[in-house]
Amino acid sequence: MKQKVRKAVFPAAGLGTRFLPATKAIPKEMLALVDKPIIQYGVEEALAAGIEEIIIVTARGKSAIEDHFDTSFELEASLEKKGKGELLDLVRQVSAMGRLAYVRQSEARGLGHAVLQAKDLVGDEPFAVLLPDDVIDAETPCIHQMVEAYNDVQASILATMVVEGPAISAYGVLDGKPVDGKPKLFEVSGMVEKPKLEEAPSKNAIIGRYILTPAIFAKLETIEPGAGGELQLTDGIKALLGEESVYGFSFDGVRHDAGDKQGMLQAMVDFTLKRDDLGPKFREYLKGLSL
Ligand code: UTP
Repeated sequence: MKQKVRKAVFPAAGLGTRFLPATKAIPKEMLALVDKPIIQYGVEEALAAGIEEIIIVTARGKSAIEDHFDTSFELEASLEKKGKGELLDLVRQVSAMGRLAYVRQSEARGLGHAVLQAKDLVGDEPFAVLLPDDVIDAETPCIHQMVEAYNDVQASILATMVVEGPAISAYGVLDGKPVDGKPKLFEVSGMVEKPKLEEAPSKNAIIGRYILTPAIFAKLETIEPGAGGELQLTDGIKALLGEESVYGFSFDGVRHDAGDKQGMLQAMVDFTLKRDDLGPKFREYLKGLSL
């Protein structure tokens, strides 16, 4: 029987150490890309793909995420009183963003462990995982492209992008082969975490969008801590490989690593230049810089 992808898990319980001191009291996922917290880009992407339930894995110190997606009566009343209709709409849109559920990860024990915390809320059905710090600019939202691919193959799918040169060593890299008649898919036979350039099995690097079958939970429950002493999601997926088909998916779009300073700065420039209200003035400013 074909199953629909109805739920999306957002792991947001990490410590965000690359952005300290900004992330000492503010969750990394709430850092603004221009004027929107990075997690909101992902939530909007999931909702645009027809996902009905958003599950956010949070932790101590992350309550700003829950507040952000909740109604703010004081703010709404104040904006209404001042006749600031446009801002009021903007604020109301955020708190009306579909069904959100929260689950806690009591200790940052890795991405695999974070996803495992959503087991009971996901249940026995396929689900999406979106890493909030990967912000993807695409005509058709990346996770929408992946849901369509899932509807076709009914198997786990990992978003990948081609990474040239030594930069590949920062990623999980797929081994496998192209699929006849499906140019965007790559049948996975293995994965290597952060390989040296000469040991990388391909140029297909895994990024922060996944569709997983519920069989992943049993694997995450049995794997041992991997790199950095953390339970790695990729180790869980590797364990799944012996039993189920797993595909890489080369999506259309540009991925920004907003969890990293350089990536965030680049995303900030790209997104600002695309804005009708900010782009023209900002472009003039950049042109005037003596670089
Ligand atoms: P990252 O490795 O990018 O996040 O994980 P981090 O650990 O918070 O960041 P740095 O490296 O210290 O700067 C990707 C996503 O997975 C979540 C993070 O919140 C982030 O959104 N995550 C990571 C968890 O939810 N739990 C974890 O134990 C680890």
